[in-house]
Amino acid sequence: MEQKARSVAFLLAATCVFSIIALILTVVNVKDVFLPSSTKYGLVFDAGSTHTALYIYQWPADKENGTGIVSQVEACAVSGPGISSYADSPALAGASLKPCLDKAMMTVPAKLHQETPTYLGATAGMRLLREQNSTKAERVFAEVTKTIRQYPVDFRGAQILTGNEEGTFGWITVNYLLETLVKFSFAEKWEHPQGTEVLGALDLGGASTQITFQPGSTIEDQNTSILLRLYSTNYSLYTHSYLCYGQTQALKMLLAALREGSSSPQQVTHPCYPKGYQENVTTAALYDSPCVPMPSTPSPAQVFTVTGTGDPAACKTAIEKLFNFSCGAHRTCGFNGIYQPPVRGQFFAFSGFYYTFHFLNITGQQSLGHVNSTIWAFCNSTWKELVEDFPQETERLHMYCSIAVYILTLLLDGYKFDEHTWSSIHFSKKAANVDIGWTLGFMLNLTNMIPTEALVHVKGQQPDLWASAIFFIVLATVTGLMAIFLLCFWKPK
Ligand SMILES: *[C@@H]1O[C@H](CO)[C@@H](O)[C@H](O)[C@H]1NC(C)=O
Ligand SMILES: *[C@@H]1O[C@H](CO)[C@@H](O)[C@H](O)[C@H]1NC(C)=O
Ligand SMILES: *[C@@H]1O[C@H](CO)[C@@H](O)[C@H](O)[C@H]1NC(C)=O
Ligand SMILES: *[C@@H]1O[C@H](CO)[C@@H](O)[C@H](O)[C@H]1NC(C)=O
Ligand SMILES: *[C@@H]1O[C@H](CO)[C@@H](O)[C@H](O)[C@H]1NC(C)=O
Repeated sequence: MEQKARSVAFLLAATCVFSIIALILTVVNVKDVFLPSSTKYGLVFDAGSTHTALYIYQWPADKENGTGIVSQVEACAVSGPGISSYADSPALAGASLKPCLDKAMMTVPAKLHQETPTYLGATAGMRLLREQNSTKAERVFAEVTKTIRQYPVDFRGAQILTGNEEGTFGWITVNYLLETLVKFSFAEKWEHPQGTEVLGALDLGGASTQITFQPGSTIEDQNTSILLRLYSTNYSLYTHSYLCYGQTQALKMLLAALREGSSSPQQVTHPCYPKGYQENVTTAALYDSPCVPMPSTPSPAQVFTVTGTGDPAACKTAIEKLFNFSCGAHRTCGFNGIYQPPVRGQFFAFSGFYYTFHFLNITGQQSLGHVNSTIWAFCNSTWKELVEDFPQETERLHMYCSIAVYILTLLLDGYKFDEHTWSSIHFSKKAANVDIGWTLGFMLNLTNMIPTEALVHVKGQQPDLWASAIFFIVLATVTGLMAIFLLCFWKPK
C-alpha cells in the first residue's frame, strides 16, 4: 500500500513539474507577442502649401487591421516654406527634407528601415503650381523623390492628392482615431459601435479648405460624393475642397480686392489689420498665384503700402465679398455655387481652424456669442496694444483678426453652421495623441490597414495563451498539493 501511495505521489509530482515547465514555455510565448520586433513603422510627408512636416507612425504588427492602434511617434517640421515655393530652385526642395529624414532614421530601428513604407503627399500648394506650370511641378517632385530615394526606406512614391482625397483621408483619420468605425466589443468581436455616429471633418490649409461629412439625405451632385466600405460598413460621404480658400490664399485674395477697391494702388487701407500697423508689400508677392489674378489695369508700382484701420465691421464686409453665397441651380449649397447638403452631426475642425482659435482661447466649446465678441474685441485692439500683450507673436500677430473673421464667415455663411449647430464643432489639433490631418488616413489606406470586410481573428493568440497559462497554473498547484499531501500525511495502516 505504501509502495502504491509513493508511486501515485511520484506521478503527481512529475505532473506538477511538467505543468510548471509548460507554464514557463507558455508565458515566454505570451511575452513573444509583445516583443518590440513586432512593431511596424510608417513615414508620411505632408507637403502643404506653406510648410512640410514628416509624420512618423508606429503600430503593433499583429494587430494592424484593428482601429485606434496606430500611434504617432514624432512629427518633424521641415524648416523653410512648402515645396511649391521651390519652383525656381527645385534642388533645394529635396535638400530641405533631409534633416527630418535623418531624424526618422534615428527613430526607426535600423533593421526596420527597409520595410518602412514611406510616402510623400502634396496638397493644394502643388495643385496650384501644377496649374501654373506643370513642368515646374514635375521638377520639384523629381527632386524630392531623388532625396527620399537616398534613404534605405520602402519609398512608395510622391503624389499630389486631389481635393476629394484630402477631405476623405482627413475624415478617415478623425473616425479611426475616435474609434467610431469599428471597436473591439465585449462580445470579443470587432464590431461597428452601436449608436455611435461618425464625425465630420473640417480642414483649413494654406491654399484650400475641405469639408467632409455623412449627410442625412442622398447626395445630389456625384462630384461631391464618396463611397467607402470600411470594416464591412458602407459610408456615403459628402466631400468638397475649395481651392484658393485656404487661409494664405484667402488673405491674398482679400488684400488684392482691397487694393482694387482703393483709390490709390500705392496706398491700401486694411480694415482687418490693427490700427497703427503698416507694411510694404511687393506686387510680385501678391500676384504670384492663380488665386489672385493681376488687376485688369496693372499699375507700374512694384511696392505698395498697407495700413491697418482695425475696423471689424468693415473687415467682415470685405471678407464676405470673397464669397458668392448664391446657390444657383442647387437647392442647398456651400458657396460659389457648389452643392452641399445641410451639415449634420458632430465635426472636428483642425489645422488652420485650430491654430488661430487656439491663440484666441476659443477652442473650448464657447458659445457663438462669446466667440464673436472675443474676435470683435481682438480686432479692435491697436497694434501697440497687441505688441505689448503678445511680444513673442509679432510675426503672425497682424493676421489673426483677418483669419478669425475669415473662419467665422467660412463656417457660418459658407458651410452654413448656425447658432444651434455651432456647438457641434470641436476645434482640435489632436485625437488620441495623434495630430489630426489627412496623413494618417492616407497611410492607412495605402497600406491596406483598413479592411473592407469585418475582422474575424485579429486579437492574435493572446486569449489562447492566457487560457493555457491559467490551465497549467491550476494543474501544477493541484497536483503539487496532492503530491505533498500523499507523501506527508498518508499513513497506511
Ligand atoms: C490585415 O488585412 C490584410 C488584408 O485584408 C491581410 O492581408 C493581413 O494579413 C491582415 N493582417 C493581420 C495582422 O490580420
Ligand atoms: C514653365 O517652367 C519652365 C521651366 O522653368 C519654363 O521653361 C517654361 O517656359 C514655363 N512655362 C510656362 C507656360 O510658363
Ligand atoms: C454667383 O453664383 C451664381 C450661381 O452659381 C451665378 O449665377 C452668379 O453669376 C455668381 N455671381 C457672381 C458675381 O459671380
Ligand atoms: C489666452 O489665455 C492665456 C492664458 O489664460 C492668456 O495669457 C492669453 O493672453 C489669452 N490670449 C488671448 C488672445 O486673449
Ligand atoms: C484607397 O486605396 C485604394 C488602392 O489601394 C484605392 O483604390 C482607393 O480608392 C483608396 N481609397 C480612397 C478613399 O481614396
